Amino acid sequence: MNNWLIRDARVVDQGRTVQADVLVRDGVIERVATEGIGRARGVQELDAEGRHLLPGAIDDQVHFREPGLTHKEDIAHGSAAAVAGGITTFMEMPNTVPQTLTQELLEQKYALGAASSVANYSFYMGASNTNLDELLRTDPRTVCGLKAFLGSSTGNMLVDDPGTLDHLFKEAHLILAVHAEDEPTIRRNMAEAVAKYGENIPIAQHPLIRSAEACWRSSSNAVKLAQEHGTRLHVLHISTARELELFEPGPMEGKRITAEACVHHLWFTDADYATKGNLIKWNPAVKTREDREAIRQAVRDGRIDVVATDHAPHTMEEKAMPYAQCPSGGPLVQHALPAMLELMHQEVFTLEEVVEKMSHAPARLFQVKDRGFIREGFFADLVLVDLDAPWTVEKKNLLYKCGWSPIEGQRFRSRVLRTWVNGQLANADGKVDNTVRGMRATFDR
Ligand code: DOR
Repeated sequence: MNNWLIRDARVVDQGRTVQADVLVRDGVIERVATEGIGRARGVQELDAEGRHLLPGAIDDQVHFREPGLTHKEDIAHGSAAAVAGGITTFMEMPNTVPQTLTQELLEQKYALGAASSVANYSFYMGASNTNLDELLRTDPRTVCGLKAFLGSSTGNMLVDDPGTLDHLFKEAHLILAVHAEDEPTIRRNMAEAVAKYGENIPIAQHPLIRSAEACWRSSSNAVKLAQEHGTRLHVLHISTARELELFEPGPMEGKRITAEACVHHLWFTDADYATKGNLIKWNPAVKTREDREAIRQAVRDGRIDVVATDHAPHTMEEKAMPYAQCPSGGPLVQHALPAMLELMHQEVFTLEEVVEKMSHAPARLFQVKDRGFIREGFFADLVLVDLDAPWTVEKKNLLYKCGWSPIEGQRFRSRVLRTWVNGQLANADGKVDNTVRGMRATFDR
């Protein structure tokens, strides 16, 4: 049933919070009424009791590992965890097995999404050194973007041929999202670490191996190429203060070059390697407190346009391996919004900034059709949160297939109470209705 009357909510949208009733019919927001709504027929009613209603978050970077790596995660688990955490639409990365490098493989992923995703979904088309023709056949209206790894990470999808890169930046006909870390710099740093530590490289070396310099070299080169060719470039997971000078502050409208920050780079610092070890081994690495503070400031001033998760699960067995063998990445999609709301409680961000960076901005940046706002005529992707209902992240309340989280033991003050996906109640108090299916997101391009 996707007809709802949500009464007495504090609706947070476009920088304002207003008391309103929200009427949803056939999965679409029909009315947002500050004066209240008397009666409506054929709807299920929910009294929000003055709690906050947010537009569902849109996560522009997740790895749900399907097909081929489903021992780590799959779309059913990943999307359920997303919805439990208030994320109603995700954009998923191409470093699966096989890699998403042809239109046929891309459409196969969409079929997997249709079959098992509780959330709305989109899948990136992957770039390689050899698939440019295929890449350029991607439909901008039904696919979120193109993804290129300019530094290798899980899955070795490196695009490093200078001629190919030039072509890619010149020809890309929709958003080109890049993972920017300079491979030669990383290799050199790694060789030095091996010479010094042999088999036992301490995890604290990770941000020195995957260094600030490696990030700068690659992201500044990507920005230079984009400026030369007028590419619509989106630089993913910025992790250093220095890279921020590559981006313009202020509203994203009119920008050809945008940037994303991930929750882990806003949350952790290199001091956390001592207690968390490989569990917070990510590419790019979590770096210094100064880097984290600078990224937080850039989220506020607009040099960072969107906040995402880079949810990238591996099994506990994989994460327990020694540094050099341990894969980078960790699950976050269930806890991104609660973590950002925690940063709101800590007065790092306002509630309106959280909604801007996690819902509105990704919708505008990708031109997602009719999502990301609590607006009449838009899909009813909605999240009801209680900002004062403390809970603790524990193994028993994790929905990830991998069964662990880098923030187990963390107490959050805010809780996601309900999540609607296209008007369907997909989550109530952390219990996800696995029969709900999201839709393929489309794009106004
Ligand atoms: O830490 C990471 N893990 N960074 C990436 O870019 C890829 C991801 C993964 O797929 O495991």
